[in-house]
Amino acid sequence: TTIHRSDYRVPTHLIDTVKLEFDLDPESTGVTNTMHVVPNPQSTEKGAPLVLNGEELTLVSVTVNGRLLSETEYDVSPTALTIPNIVGESTISIVNRFSPVQNTALSGIYVSGGNLMSQCESEGFRRITYFLDRPDVLARYTVAIRAPKDLYPILLSNGNRMEEKDLGDGRHYALWVDPFPKPSYLFALVAGKLVCRSEIFPLKDGRQASLEIWVEPQDLEKTAHTLESLKKSIRWDEERWGLELDLEGFRIVATNDFNFGAMENKGLNIFNARCALANPKVATDDDYLRVESVVGHEYFHNWTGNRVTLRDWFQLALKEGLTVFRDQEFSADMLGEASARAVQRIKDVRFLRTNQFPEDASPMAHPIRPESYLDINNFYTMTVYEKGAEVIRMLQTLLGRETFRRGFDLYIAKNDGGAATLEAFLEAMQEAAGRDLGQFALWFSQAGTPRLKVETRWDDVNHTFTLSATQTTPATPGQPIKRPFLIPFPVALLDPTTGAEMPVQLIEEDEAPAPGTRMLELRETHHEWVFAGLPACPVSSLNRGFAAPVILEADYDDATLAFLATRDGDPFNRWDAMNELMLRTLHAQVRAKLTHEPKDVDPLFLNVVGELLSAPDLSPAFKAVALELPSERLVSEREPLIDPQAVHYAREYVRAAIGKRWITKFLETVDANRTPGAYSPDPESAGRRALKNLALGYAHASGNPRATIALRDQFNTADNLTDKLAALQHMVNSQSPAKQDMAVEALREWYAEPLLINKWLTIQATASLFPGEEPVLERVRELMQTNFFSIKNPNNVYALLLAFFTQNAAEFHAVDGSGYRFWSEIVLELNRINPHVAARVARALENWRRYTPALSRQMYDALQFVYSRKDELSPNVLEVIEKTLGN
Ligand code: ARG
Ligand code: ZN
Repeated sequence: TTIHRSDYRVPTHLIDTVKLEFDLDPESTGVTNTMHVVPNPQSTEKGAPLVLNGEELTLVSVTVNGRLLSETEYDVSPTALTIPNIVGESTISIVNRFSPVQNTALSGIYVSGGNLMSQCESEGFRRITYFLDRPDVLARYTVAIRAPKDLYPILLSNGNRMEEKDLGDGRHYALWVDPFPKPSYLFALVAGKLVCRSEIFPLKDGRQASLEIWVEPQDLEKTAHTLESLKKSIRWDEERWGLELDLEGFRIVATNDFNFGAMENKGLNIFNARCALANPKVATDDDYLRVESVVGHEYFHNWTGNRVTLRDWFQLALKEGLTVFRDQEFSADMLGEASARAVQRIKDVRFLRTNQFPEDASPMAHPIRPESYLDINNFYTMTVYEKGAEVIRMLQTLLGRETFRRGFDLYIAKNDGGAATLEAFLEAMQEAAGRDLGQFALWFSQAGTPRLKVETRWDDVNHTFTLSATQTTPATPGQPIKRPFLIPFPVALLDPTTGAEMPVQLIEEDEAPAPGTRMLELRETHHEWVFAGLPACPVSSLNRGFAAPVILEADYDDATLAFLATRDGDPFNRWDAMNELMLRTLHAQVRAKLTHEPKDVDPLFLNVVGELLSAPDLSPAFKAVALELPSERLVSEREPLIDPQAVHYAREYVRAAIGKRWITKFLETVDANRTPGAYSPDPESAGRRALKNLALGYAHASGNPRATIALRDQFNTADNLTDKLAALQHMVNSQSPAKQDMAVEALREWYAEPLLINKWLTIQATASLFPGEEPVLERVRELMQTNFFSIKNPNNVYALLLAFFTQNAAEFHAVDGSGYRFWSEIVLELNRINPHVAARVARALENWRRYTPALSRQMYDALQFVYSRKDELSPNVLEVIEKTLGN
């Protein structure tokens, strides 16, 4: 059944305390759940029965105020336990059982590597016991755990450990009390053979906190960076936002079986190992950054998510958008000075454009605050997270950092201990700013990426420069007509020869003109600004820093883009101009391929590449992002109808052309950017490695034998995974005869380490195919049969199957439709095992209408095939398939 935002009702009852007693057993765990229940005075449904959520549970008994109920006194269904007549304060005690080993959905309590792990967000708690499993019911939790000592020597839950004892019969006992009321989705329990790295860390107010990273024994050597990241996160939240850790202890647990990245359970965060563990042998520079940012993200949730939680799941962006914004700012601050920060912004925007823009243009498009859902699990999306973060960032841009901070403080102060809405956040901002933000709220409710068309005019007689902007937002499912957004629009006018910022003065103003960035605002569909007092026609630098998440359609010609790519003082826009030039170049080659009219790569473009490569003022890290070709996915976005093979061909062709044109410089760049000495993932060294490996890729693509030798050498001697993996990847995606041996060698070294085997699987799944080679699909099928792949392990599925479906377009979209048939088999199989993972994989075909007719028709057939089995489909998968088909 579909849940609508407008159907929100306060809960009929509240649960203020709950005591959970667990008897852990992998086959059948017992729970005694004792709740103090009060009818909610706010509820209008007086006398309503108490309806507790419950799924996959075996009910043993129900006791109300000490009296055991008979089976006629309650009703139990596969999804609920209904108890009538709870009209006064009551103590309700429920005994139930569930089976961790049979839990392949990894929601609730399940087995991972012999240990027990929990995942409750959004609705996993109801798979542990009967409860009001909704975020606006906040209770204080006491958790008693009894468990066999040999299987589960370590017993953890939220809050503070109050007691531990031996039960004498081979079992032991631990008692945990969480002092903070919380919704059920923040509950956590972990039991198993774990070891920890810990440290006592002084908080700003003088208290000492015990920080602990819990892992399986073989992973202890991968936790130093995790702990460092946690310490940095705690400091940063104190310094930047004045927010302190409110617990005596803070724990992180890593597991290899986890549906998503990580989870912010109060005081006991649980992480997917790939977001928690790092050392030079198992993690790349990017992995080090990811661990830092995810540790930050989950830690920051302690205030934005936990202390202030959500009223209902439609508000998800209130915690996720805000917390992604906070983790992005954290990552940027960790990089130091402004130009390094810009690299973070560039990566974040590139991620948004690659993943969220397509979603916003797909049948799954939804506002950051959706209006309805079949399964809330389908709304942990790029839109809620990434666009959500952009919407929060726009508020900071519009109001200024100080006012935004005051609004943020107000929001926390007013909502601490409560369950809030997006409106509450906006109200706090309005109060701090003394400004009505009603129009801004459209960013919460309207889906689709706005397009901003900008035209400029120079009046040579009056020396005025006119900038006109028109915003339009395409229709999205259920939203045919859009109202204009409030859009911050920072603009600078650049001297057409030097690129220096010219004075910016609007014609109707008499204030002295100031050079620099001018913050304009769009409210209407159309705006026109006239600038005066300019010596010459300027070049405009628009939407600086990517202030607003819009698609900018500016009337730049290639020469102007080249100018901006080499002169713009805003590093983001400098990168963006280069990116746009690359996209145009790639698009021209796609056309050339489709029309069978071969065409050289534009020398103007190649010159800009050379200029950036040698620019003395640019850091290696910046050069690495500026010279990286846009992904096939981004290139495809621009095509009227996607032909994946043509896109792949064009991109490889341009890569080789760039490599050939600047081969000497690339080889010099490789030599100039080595990082001798012990491995360190610091931003400076990581930037050098990124540029060196990019240069190696171009040089290798040009067919230069020195590059091939350098790659082999690097593979054999690298002391870090970044270099080793880059070498392997470049080789595997080439025709080099040595690639097979290298892949086998890597497998021999890596097969016992899950983090590494997943990387290896992705390299196989995303490999380019060359004449005479076995189709990648066959390779993927074979790898599924090996003992280092399990379809029950989400990371394996993402690394091999999802990577094949989403990162190897040329092979997955084989013209014979074999990839699509394989996809439908996999979706149906995963649907029986793990609906969440299945739904993620199911989304691989969501943009089926965008492909050439021959492919599109076969994609439709595959979708229909899955849909024809709709009686077997989980709500999770059904919602994706129905929306994708437009039903
Ligand atoms: N709250 C977690 C995080 O962003 C993610 C939980 C995902 N849950 C889900 N049901 N998809 O850090
Ligand atoms: Zn989050």
